[in-house]
Amino acid sequence: MTAQLNPRGDVAVLVPAAGSGTRLGPGAPKALRLLGGEPLLVHALRRVCQAPSVAAVVVAAPPDEVAFVRAMLAPVAPVTVVAGGAHRQASVAAALAAVPAEIPIVLVHDAARALAPPHLVESVAAAVRAGAEAVIPVLPVVDTIKEVGPDEAVRGTVDRTPLRAVQTPQGFRRQVLAAAHAAAVDPLTDDAGLVEKQGVRVTCVPGSDHALKITRPFDLLLAEHLLATE
Ligand code: C5P
Repeated sequence: MTAQLNPRGDVAVLVPAAGSGTRLGPGAPKALRLLGGEPLLVHALRRVCQAPSVAAVVVAAPPDEVAFVRAMLAPVAPVTVVAGGAHRQASVAAALAAVPAEIPIVLVHDAARALAPPHLVESVAAAVRAGAEAVIPVLPVVDTIKEVGPDEAVRGTVDRTPLRAVQTPQGFRRQVLAAAHAAAVDPLTDDAGLVEKQGVRVTCVPGSDHALKITRPFDLLLAEHLLATE
């Protein structure tokens, strides 16, 4: 039985967090790294669950950690925790299988983007609701981008005008995501990439600086500052 948030919502959010590594501490999976004393996954879910359109959230956890993750998240929000698969794509597919049949819009989120605000969830969902089949939040690329050879010599300067940095949550009409997963051959880290391969148009909406991917120690410092000033 999938836990319900807003029963009138039309959005399910999937969070693949079944990467290897266990519990907190060195070598822990990114989703369980601490920010302000709480795991990134907890921060991410708290914000997702504040988005009014969200009816269900499904987290894919390492198969032997399902009970642990379920107990950790129970006080945070009524989310469903399922066993993930052998790779990220399989974990997304396992989470998708637990989405109630009547929900038409599915977002895939990365727990490492722990401070992605509820309004970003809403704007991605709204673009799908308005008719887009697939939606990604993006930011313009601000750095100058060079192509560099294996010898570290610059080969050229890339025109950054058409480039965008892609964030999550990425949003899909449910059948579009399901079809892309069913047809997938090579595992990709990006669900919109799978959908692109099906020839489906992917639409961009403005991303958020707060949806930064918290991966390096510097990102964690920045995120701690953002958390303190939220
Ligand atoms: O390990 P990698 O960096 O590719 O993981 C990317 C994301 O996919 C992480 O959030 C990780 O928890 C998730 N993942 C998953 N199931 C797996 C492997 C990775 O949900 N079997």
